[in-house]
Amino acid sequence: MGREEWSSTLGFILASIGSAVGIGNIWRFPYIVGANGGGAFLIPYLVSVLLFGLPLMVLELAIGRSTGTSVVSTFRSIRKRFSVAGLVIVTIVSLILGYYLVITSWVLAYALFFILGRPMEFGAFTDSYLPLVFFLLSGLAVFMTVRSGVREGIERASRYLIPILLVFLLFLVAVSLTEPGAVEGVGFYLSPDYSRLTDPAVWIAAFGQAFFSLSVGMGILLTFGSYLKREALFRNAAIIAAADILIAVLAGLAIFPLVFTAGLDPAAGVNLAFITLPSAFTEIRYGMLLGALFFLMLFAAALTSAVSMLEAPTAALMDSYGYPRKRATLLVFAAVMLLGLPSALSYTALKLEVFGTAFLALADYAFGTIGLIVAGLIVSIVGGWFMSRARICAEIGGCGWQQKVYMTLIRYGVPAVLLITLIGSFFRVAG
Ligand code: PHE
Repeated sequence: MGREEWSSTLGFILASIGSAVGIGNIWRFPYIVGANGGGAFLIPYLVSVLLFGLPLMVLELAIGRSTGTSVVSTFRSIRKRFSVAGLVIVTIVSLILGYYLVITSWVLAYALFFILGRPMEFGAFTDSYLPLVFFLLSGLAVFMTVRSGVREGIERASRYLIPILLVFLLFLVAVSLTEPGAVEGVGFYLSPDYSRLTDPAVWIAAFGQAFFSLSVGMGILLTFGSYLKREALFRNAAIIAAADILIAVLAGLAIFPLVFTAGLDPAAGVNLAFITLPSAFTEIRYGMLLGALFFLMLFAAALTSAVSMLEAPTAALMDSYGYPRKRATLLVFAAVMLLGLPSALSYTALKLEVFGTAFLALADYAFGTIGLIVAGLIVSIVGGWFMSRARICAEIGGCGWQQKVYMTLIRYGVPAVLLITLIGSFFRVAG
């Protein structure tokens, strides 16, 4: 049997948008914007996406399509000992997926609460053992999707879920903008404070958010690229990035007017999604319906991202050890559930903490921030410095000046920016 392939370019684009658009867009992006200079933040953000995110995205797709295999075997084909680096990457992805699934499962729970018209208070929810039930349910949904394969599973899920997500989001934006708190909410979200642009922390926040949101540097797009035939990589990568930005910006327009209408504090982090928003929904007109739409939309976004995270290690197992898809998926799924269990338990009655910090918050920092940067560094260095230039050029339409600019950005710009982000992230925790 030959290698699995996307059924069409559109299918590939939707699956990649599914990977990119996740909790990072709908929940994280809006409060990062609010906290980092409002509308002015869009400048460093767009710079990060265009100069660093997009080149890395194109590189990953080009490498995957050129080698026709997933991350560990690709790295091994470049240099034998690089397979260890490939293993490091799939381990980081699995660790990220472990805690990402926990947040996904809270989203699923809240979607259900709002559908039933009875949102549970977050503390009461996490004190119960319900989170573990939802953790298992979300894990199973991701597992079943990946197990069904590239076309029947991953691509099909995004084909349905991404359009639904967009419709729900546009509807929520339209409703939000007619609420009494719209002007104040949009003002908080987007009023530009250009003085913040001289603050390096704002730029570091933009770099980190761009890499996380585009799902680059994790070997996921490399794996997706290995299922591609002959499409224009630049154009498709640009479409994926544009959709990712658009959905993130719209999400803020849906959220902040509601928060201000309900007279609540636009706090950051876990509180915004699971405490502030649910109470905002209980205050406003048609709140139960809007809440259900919001959490269903967030679940669709999270699910398709989690699916892409499960696919990278699964494909690695299939390609490196010749495992059939079903067995590989089961093994990776079991490992991910075990890795995610401490995070799942961190807010329950067990209160799993390390040095007074909830395990989940620690996992987000160690894997989702530091680990993500380390993986991105590995991908950009191996891809930029050790993969044959001619092979990459062959994938991206020759070695003209645009491609040279791109290669220079990948070799010097991306590693430099990732190093700065790494150092900045260390200090953030120290400070
Ligand atoms: N991009 C996804 C989001 O915005 C998260 C993600 C990160 C997915 C890394 C895959 C890899 O939520």
